[in-house]
Amino acid sequence: MSIESAATIIEPLRAPLRGAATVPGDKSISHRAVLFAAMAEGISKLTGVLDSEDVRSSIAAVRQLGARAELEPQPDKSLAGVVEGWGAKGPSQPEGPIDCGNSGTTARLLMGVLAPWDVRVELTGDESLVKRPMRRITAPLMKMGVRFQPEGRETLPLVVCGTRNLHPLVYDAPMASAQLKTAVLLAGVYAHGTTTVNEPAPSRNHTELMLPEFGVDTTAADRTASVAGPAALKACKVQVPGDPSSAAFLACAAALKPGSSVQIENVSLNPARIGFTRTLERMGACVNLRRTGSAGKEPYGTVSVDYTPNLRGCEVPADKIASIVDEIPVLSLVAAHARGVTVFREVGELRVKETDRLEAVVEGMSSLGVDAWVEGNDLFIEGQPDLVVPDAASFDSKGDHRLAMTWALVGLTGDSSVSVANFDSVKISYPQFLSDIERLAR
Ligand code: S3P
Repeated sequence: MSIESAATIIEPLRAPLRGAATVPGDKSISHRAVLFAAMAEGISKLTGVLDSEDVRSSIAAVRQLGARAELEPQPDKSLAGVVEGWGAKGPSQPEGPIDCGNSGTTARLLMGVLAPWDVRVELTGDESLVKRPMRRITAPLMKMGVRFQPEGRETLPLVVCGTRNLHPLVYDAPMASAQLKTAVLLAGVYAHGTTTVNEPAPSRNHTELMLPEFGVDTTAADRTASVAGPAALKACKVQVPGDPSSAAFLACAAALKPGSSVQIENVSLNPARIGFTRTLERMGACVNLRRTGSAGKEPYGTVSVDYTPNLRGCEVPADKIASIVDEIPVLSLVAAHARGVTVFREVGELRVKETDRLEAVVEGMSSLGVDAWVEGNDLFIEGQPDLVVPDAASFDSKGDHRLAMTWALVGLTGDSSVSVANFDSVKISYPQFLSDIERLAR
């Protein structure tokens, strides 16, 4: 790897990826561990927490709100330590705005965290986050009694004006979003009555699995989750398993690089998160899952992937999209190497991620010489089994970590180097991505 002005040159791996690896802690579970521990009464012990910019945004936020978060870097590069929450006394009024950086999860979950308290907290973020839609969270929270200022504004910066008189809510969410579901459920913990979120398709369920660990009466079934309020979170221990969304990059690299065979250990095997293994299998890749334990209610284990020469395109239906929502860019790259057309149905949500990932995937595919197009909200990729990456192909992550890693894989698994502008956005979710993948290819 070398860095030329703003672009990083990614060289092809010299050998296939082989052997065992681990990936950093799950980002979604890490955010929840930090935020729920901050809400709880007592001292929670957290291990395996992801040390990345996004999770640091949540840690900094809870400190500003009065929680004591002593999380220290460990030899395995995770964060571990204690968080003493504000419990029944509630968060303290911070002096200035809370900067959520690039982290949509921090901003959106905090809206639910702050909802039940008499505080007025301004939330803001970086140039990407201030463009992302917040109405999906503010609309249900306003029904519960929270106010947001300026009124009618749909993006950050926004001031959350909480209230101790929250009404419970039964909410039919317009989209499958775990961030929306979590914000409403967290507010519902403090409302008098049962708060329910119904979803059009199942989104990740880490909140429903973790809240009972913190002593909150939570029920969940297919596409619905409820909390019984008022309740209080009590400190507990949380062990964070490896992030399947990070593992997906190693798995897809192994599927693409001839001769590879990798085993990624201690990865969350939560079914709502490992849709990418199913998509890879349907493309004909050789994937195996082996459960080795559980962290709280979260199952984890080993994801093994071997190189497969004859990948084929497949169709991913709309109700499975939430289980691969963060993996669509990298799965699109695998699809670019498969025979036939791959279709991802109803992926309009990609337009409002850290960047417009639909547009970015189509643009990146065109730099690769691969046909990709959008019809309505469906994404189509016409694969080329003998794809030869054009010499000196260049890509731009646009500050989006998942795009940075996707385009880096073009160079890493191919025969010629590529340049990726703004590659350092990998620090949002997987700072050691390049060294982890290079270690597997020695
Ligand atoms: C997340 C939920 C998903 C996902 C994001 C993390 C979470 O977003 O894309 O990376 O931790 O709840 P949506 O809730 O917008 O689908």
